[in-house]
Amino acid sequence: MISKTMEQALNKQVNRELYSAYLYLAMSSHFESVNMKGFAKWMRIQAKEEQMHALKIYDYIITRGGTVSLLDIEAPKAKWSSAGKVFDEVYSHEQKVTAMIHGLVDLAIKEKDHATFEMLQWFVKEQVEEEQHASEIVNQIKIVGDIVGHLFYLDHQLGKRE
Ligand SMILES: [Fe+2]
Ligand SMILES: [Fe+2]
Repeated sequence: MISKTMEQALNKQVNRELYSAYLYLAMSSHFESVNMKGFAKWMRIQAKEEQMHALKIYDYIITRGGTVSLLDIEAPKAKWSSAGKVFDEVYSHEQKVTAMIHGLVDLAIKEKDHATFEMLQWFVKEQVEEEQHASEIVNQIKIVGDIVGHLFYLDHQLGKRE
């Protein structure tokens, strides 16, 4: 059985993962509106991954005899001024999520909750990858700069994500 404190903290994380999905879906629709189909596809897949993260914690709460409580999901913004600005935000958002995951790990240690600690290790590793992918794209956009042809090449490359 999971403690009430841990249950509450995990429920909050379910909400943050769903917010991440919402944010990336907003970014996907933004890219659709500026006809950058590759970036849009990348973001849509990213949104789906975040939903999967939310459900992973959701399932875990139930497995441990806890209760899932779904909270309001905040509305993300809808417009960005450039592809670079979008990915800067992805990178900083993922860094914030990493800090949240680390906060949950700290709580699991404090509560001597070994099972939750173990479950969270998947997320610790996932965040290393999430930050790496976001920062790579931030750098690629910096390299191509404002050259439209190069940005469309990058759009084409990102569109290959499955
Ligand atoms: Fe996530
Ligand atoms: Fe993420």
